[in-house]
Amino acid sequence: MTKINSGATPKQVRQDLHPLVDFQQDGMPLDQLKELIDKTLMPHLMAYDDPAFQSMFNAYPPAEARLGAEIMHNTNQGVTNWQVSPGGAMLEEMAGKALCQLFGLAATADCTFMYSGTYANQQAVYLGIHRYAEQMGVDYVNQGLAAFPDPKRLVVLVSADAHFSMRHAIRMLGLGEQNLIKIGLDSDRRIDLDALKSILSELKGKKEVVCAVATSGTTSTGSIDPIKPMAELLPKHVWFHIDGAYGYAYKLVPECTHLFDGDGLADSITWDPHKQMGAPIPNSVLFCKDGADFGRMSLYSGYFNREEDTEPNPGLKSPPTTRPMSALPLVTILKGKGLKTIVEELAQPVRGMRQMADWLRSQSDFEVCHRPDTGILCFRFLKPGLSAEESSRYQRKLYDAVMASGKRSISTTVLDGQTVLRFAVVKPETKFEHLRQSAEAIRLISGQMNQ
Ligand SMILES: Cc1ncc(COP(=O)(O)O)c(C=O)c1O
Repeated sequence: MTKINSGATPKQVRQDLHPLVDFQQDGMPLDQLKELIDKTLMPHLMAYDDPAFQSMFNAYPPAEARLGAEIMHNTNQGVTNWQVSPGGAMLEEMAGKALCQLFGLAATADCTFMYSGTYANQQAVYLGIHRYAEQMGVDYVNQGLAAFPDPKRLVVLVSADAHFSMRHAIRMLGLGEQNLIKIGLDSDRRIDLDALKSILSELKGKKEVVCAVATSGTTSTGSIDPIKPMAELLPKHVWFHIDGAYGYAYKLVPECTHLFDGDGLADSITWDPHKQMGAPIPNSVLFCKDGADFGRMSLYSGYFNREEDTEPNPGLKSPPTTRPMSALPLVTILKGKGLKTIVEELAQPVRGMRQMADWLRSQSDFEVCHRPDTGILCFRFLKPGLSAEESSRYQRKLYDAVMASGKRSISTTVLDGQTVLRFAVVKPETKFEHLRQSAEAIRLISGQMNQ
């Protein structure tokens, strides 16, 4: 089996890369520079296209994506508005509308391309606070949180397994992490609706919920929170956001579509095409059910993004002024592959993970931690006689040994304070068979550790 990266230590990688960042007065011919990169950097990059890469959400761009990316990079269009790139600005606007249609969102829906899912989540919370301020008749735009009679009352609700970008969001928006309220989970690590109900009644009269977030595809387990029942429980004024950075793509897969029921009720949705679509990073999208809500972000200037302009102006919908033509590689993926292939490819890891969960359940030395909703599965290798704490340490040791081999990449996460092993697969090349081989490698490593 070939290695999927060098397996080198940070010290070795640092040493190897040194000649690359040792800047000199004189330049270097490009062929030599390329040779230097091939020698120093390339061996240490991760081969995302290898079926043994089973740990994270990264994917190599397919040929269709590279076509768009090449044009994006070669022309270096900034697509903030019509003046800077008529074609680029129009493409972003039109692709955005087409994506809303692809996901079956309302005719009023619109989207904006962002530098990451993290920023999309942050903007969603901002939009929620902005709309709440409007309903309260306070001037949030000028006065910030101080505009609210008691800013300490403003809270955001998320799943206990929400991505840490929600913590970034609440910190950066000045609400503070104590105002991020985590809702407990059911046995499949989806938001527990009874827990949500209790929290809502506990908060009544004491706090003001400005935003609630369903994660559709949690980072740890890929679980999809119950969107429609959540939407029905939330008071009308609450901005309902779906963090689908990882999982929203699976709405397109017929066996998963029902898990997204009610997504049309969300005020906003985050999706990262730079995950399983293999769109070159950065490629993130923030949808809004009502495109007019993007007006909450709009800032005008005298030189461009003028209020009176009627041409497309993607830069009015989210903060970056200089913005990449991210729409193009996504368009070339969708057009080049065609929707039938896209859906079939997206379905592969989901099916593989379901098969793997069944197989692990049939093995006496493995334990499955949840039912897989998407392409992620957490599990433990069972070693008799270990306490919970010792078992946690043991999973970590197994993980370290797998990674040190450089032959495969798996991951760990922590569920309810316990370290567990994790497969996360976003590409069709990794099949059930590759996952089973990894489980058997783990079993073998455990046997060797016991000798
Ligand atoms: C559920 C979820 N939300 C948000 C993010 C952050 O997205 P990004 O990495 O694009 O900032 C991730 C990243 O993995 C994620 O899994």
